[in-house]
Amino acid sequence: MSEPEEIYRRCRELLGETDSLAGRQVLVSAGGTREPIDAVRFVGNRSSGRMGVALAEEARRRGAEVTLIASNIAVGPPDGVEVVQAPTAADVQQATISHAGADVVLMAAAVSDYRPAQTNEAKRPKDDKTWQIELEPTADVLRGLGENRTNGQVLVGFAAETAANGLQRAREKLAAKQVDLIVYNDVSRDDVGFDARENEVVIVSAEGERHVAKSQKDEIAAAILDEVEHLI
Ligand code: CTP
Repeated sequence: MSEPEEIYRRCRELLGETDSLAGRQVLVSAGGTREPIDAVRFVGNRSSGRMGVALAEEARRRGAEVTLIASNIAVGPPDGVEVVQAPTAADVQQATISHAGADVVLMAAAVSDYRPAQTNEAKRPKDDKTWQIELEPTADVLRGLGENRTNGQVLVGFAAETAANGLQRAREKLAAKQVDLIVYNDVSRDDVGFDARENEVVIVSAEGERHVAKSQKDEIAAAILDEVEHLI
């Protein structure tokens, strides 16, 4: 029989495991927040969490210590990562503050920009009148991280766009949020982006742009983490 260390090394090799992020703390947000209107209703979005889960899995495969901030994810979290449930935007903000020392933060979650100004504890009963819901802005978590960044931390945001000038908007977000990378994806398409197994992105940095052709989200995750490793 081969030595156990040799068997272990070979298993890791076959599973594609490396040590390229060993000793690094990686924080990933995934999914879409739900902002309660009353006991049963919410303001939400179509994000499944697949992209963030793929990033968490790939970071773990590269040896990182990974925390996944999970906002209502529709897929199971990967093994071997710490999971923090964060159903609302305020919960996501709290979870990032609790993990402020992370070496890398990847904000793949679709965090709601607005929440109902008032929340009913009970289910609101039906009546015949129009129901108007006032929405107030939530905190921009990624912008806050960019403003209070600790030394050497790598910050990655996503730009979920639907407009023709989406890539330009993504470039503007890179500067406005003071982050290292913005991953642009077109969420108006049905075949990629929100609630899809595949994605097609442009990774935007101050140095340049890398187009990643349509592929499974785990391959997109690997391309994003390759860029992160260049920055560390
Ligand atoms: N984000 C965040 N907190 C928010 C809203 C967004 O941290 N309240 C993060 C997202 O996780 C993402 C990035 O900011 O990484 C960009 O999100 P996006 O929705 O594309 O942009 P917004 O800044 O919300 O701007 P807009 O909705 O006008 O496109």
